[in-house]
Amino acid sequence: MSDKKAQLTIGSDSYEFPVMQGSTGPDVIDIRKLYGQTGAFTFDPGYKSTASCESSLTYIDGDEGVLLHRGYPIGQLAEHSSFMEVSYLLLNGELPSKDELDTFEDTITRHTMLHEQLSQFYRGFRRDAHPMAVMCGVVGALSAFYHDSTDISDPMQRRIASHRLIAKMPTIAAMAYKYSIGQPFVYPDNSLSYTGNFLKMTFSVPAEPYEVLPAVEKAMDRIFILHADHEQNASTSTVRLAGSSGANPFACIAAGIACLWGPAHGGANEACLNMLREIGTPERIPHYIERAKDKNDPFRLMGFGHRVYKNYDPRATVMQKTVREVFEALNVNDPIFEVALRLEELALEDDYFKEKKLFPNVDFYSGAILSAIGFPTTMFTALFALARTVGWVAQWNEMISDPGQVIGRPRQLYTGPTQRDYVPIDQR
Ligand code: ACO
Repeated sequence: MSDKKAQLTIGSDSYEFPVMQGSTGPDVIDIRKLYGQTGAFTFDPGYKSTASCESSLTYIDGDEGVLLHRGYPIGQLAEHSSFMEVSYLLLNGELPSKDELDTFEDTITRHTMLHEQLSQFYRGFRRDAHPMAVMCGVVGALSAFYHDSTDISDPMQRRIASHRLIAKMPTIAAMAYKYSIGQPFVYPDNSLSYTGNFLKMTFSVPAEPYEVLPAVEKAMDRIFILHADHEQNASTSTVRLAGSSGANPFACIAAGIACLWGPAHGGANEACLNMLREIGTPERIPHYIERAKDKNDPFRLMGFGHRVYKNYDPRATVMQKTVREVFEALNVNDPIFEVALRLEELALEDDYFKEKKLFPNVDFYSGAILSAIGFPTTMFTALFALARTVGWVAQWNEMISDPGQVIGRPRQLYTGPTQRDYVPIDQR
């Protein structure tokens, strides 16, 4: 808490509120006593000006294009770290020592298998079900299989549930994919890395040996790092709100997956890839740029713009480098890469995009990479959910461990009818 105070005047009455300061970032006016003192609420749909919690996990400065996890810049983590190390960092607050990382990886590895009966659960879905529909259902169902880690007042059970969720998510996502294409489920191989194991469960078949390509494994791991956490976004806030009632962690993460599914959140890279394919060749780009600028045309450049980043999305820089590496490693000669590079160049030179501070976001290149690796577009959001699970779980743990935690319960500006008497049906 700082010495600063915020003054609020409503009519002829004046009120004073404390101003909170984080370790960095904007000041936050503490209005917890606003209703008690003034009888008024604040109005902030979409929470554009509201801090819903205190958190020490992730910091974003959208104007400067900064993203830090526990203080470490995302570019450094993507370059030098691994998804397992970043997961440890998000969960525990510090980078692990070699021994700590080994133990953590060993623990996660030992939770990769799913209860065998869960495979029956998959068979209840239609083969053409969207993988996210399957993920919502299967993750929600985990609480029916792992009763021994649903007591959220027990820190040990919370830890086990967190490890189970991080460990089982690749297995769940890979099984959703296998089911959709009618291939047999592939059991986890604990001799592989977290990411290598996921690739094997997704792309191998029992009939042939499978080799994890190091460049693809690295790129995939990097994509997981880039999606691990992103502060109080819609799905994370959903997990926190669901968890604030004391709901079990499996149910909370299922709620997060449901929220992530929406095209304004996790579904944008699929839309971006479709757009790049529709554009097809660099000569057609100016036409699409003109369409994006035309107020009478609903078309927007997918993968451009961000609610928080009004400067370059730091994750997009890493993605651009990764797409090149993957295309080279897999010998992919897809014209969409050239289209993407040229589109970025032309849009960044254009006054419309400059004035509105519209830059490529993380989704601009990720669809091209995932498609080159072999994922169908319907799996893109499922991969995002897989990676974001660690962020959701870390944020949920942070909330539950806070002794001051209360149930989330926003208020509203009521605009419906005021009280009136019931009218019997024959008199209406
Ligand atoms: N193409 C063309 N114009 C755009 C674009 C775009 N991609 N994005 C924003 N604008 C324009 C808007 O038309 C608006 O113009 P106006 O001021 O003349 O009305 C202005 O820029 C501000 O746009 P808003 O929608 O108000 O900005 P907001 O911050 O609310 O939206 C959003 C951000 C939803 C991401 C938006 O930029 C968009 O729709 N982008 C395309 C979809 C996309 O890539 N989403 C992925 C986000 S990243 C993620 O979820 C992981």
